[in-house]
Amino acid sequence: MININLDNAFKDGVNSLKTEINLAKEALIKLQQGTGKGNNFIGWVTLPNEIDTATFDNIESTAKKIRKESDAVVIIGIGGSYLGARAVIDALTPAFNKQGPEIIYAGHHLDADYYVGLLEYLKTKKWSIVVISKSGTTTEPALAFRILRKLHIEQFGIKEANNRTVAITDEKKGALLKVANQNNIKTFSIPDNVGGRYSVFTPVGLLPIAIAGIDIRALIKGAVSGLNDYSKATDTNAAILYAAARNKLYNDGKKIEMVINYHPQLSYLTEWWKQLYGESEGKENKGIFVSGATFTTDLHSLGQYIQQGERHLFETLIKVETSSSPICAKEEPENIDGLNYLAGMDMHEINKTASMATLLAHTKGGVPNIILSIEKIDAFNIGKLIYFFELACGISGYILDVNPFDQPGVEDYKVNMFALLGKPGYESQRAALEKLL
Ligand code: PA5
Repeated sequence: MININLDNAFKDGVNSLKTEINLAKEALIKLQQGTGKGNNFIGWVTLPNEIDTATFDNIESTAKKIRKESDAVVIIGIGGSYLGARAVIDALTPAFNKQGPEIIYAGHHLDADYYVGLLEYLKTKKWSIVVISKSGTTTEPALAFRILRKLHIEQFGIKEANNRTVAITDEKKGALLKVANQNNIKTFSIPDNVGGRYSVFTPVGLLPIAIAGIDIRALIKGAVSGLNDYSKATDTNAAILYAAARNKLYNDGKKIEMVINYHPQLSYLTEWWKQLYGESEGKENKGIFVSGATFTTDLHSLGQYIQQGERHLFETLIKVETSSSPICAKEEPENIDGLNYLAGMDMHEINKTASMATLLAHTKGGVPNIILSIEKIDAFNIGKLIYFFELACGISGYILDVNPFDQPGVEDYKVNMFALLGKPGYESQRAALEKLL
């Protein structure tokens, strides 16, 4: 269950949102009926219900083989091709004493130091590669794959390197598919009608998540529960309320949304959320600027701005109700640090109290707060939350009247980069750009 509370966002709570709720209901119906913008990319809406046993078995047996053969696995991908997996893996694996192969990410930037260090590090490891790119042509992961594959082949020989590689890409086209097919590399396909940032519940997310030892069936159960809970166009549907609330706040001048969590293991969930909403809504000179913070850590940095800076922000708090890690400080006779008043109090309760104290301060300071509560951080609840955010994003994008499933703006940097790097076919753009530098 995800509970939404809007009492700290609007004076009259839900009553302030009548117009936006109606728009959100229409938007949900458009999504479900496939009558809205970008309707060839809405396969994710029903996807959690459509994953069959054979797909689960295939992903799980591949993950099991990789876990057995590897002490490190490099997941290569960028944007929607890695953020979802990283969000779930970080959320659901312990901070210390992780079990199974070390998960390493690559292909998500172009930093030379990182790659030199990574190649050196991998030389002594039994390692595998999972390379993920829907288009199969994105520069960052393609370059990382080329560099890492060379070491892989040198270390293990081509046959074993191929055996230790899995490619997740388009079913029919792209350079990655070609390399995989030529080398007899195992592949998984990404459905045509699911875009990168909505692909967590395809092999893009599920294979790395399973390799990390997480129960993907429980994750999907959560997503299915979300699909069931949020599929009705009603005034109480939490996905409708969230989409309606953020659009109302945006129209009221709150142009920045910060997703707030109090759990460092959710930092990458924020990164995934930022990509989902930023890339889906930021177009046609519209859209909320999405940001995030992990409190209480960031209360000692961004907290000052949030409390007293420009009043163009609102916050969406992900509140986690319970924790299965009991820990508390003990009473000390001398009480030199003055903390006896916290003795015996569970740290999770202290954290929750900090979140409510902060919420009251920020709300009073002019920062409206939406609260999204989940019961606990586990595979079911994270799966449900991810589906909730995806659905609300589609609804919200339609309220904004944009196509939430394309990203035409991302092409501009790519064209410039190709031109400046001398990619064949970009000669005229290169001459023009060089004059500007
Ligand atoms: O959400 C998206 O569609 C993008 O963020 C893509 O996932 C990202 O650009 C990577 O693309 P590809 O998987 O084709 O390499």
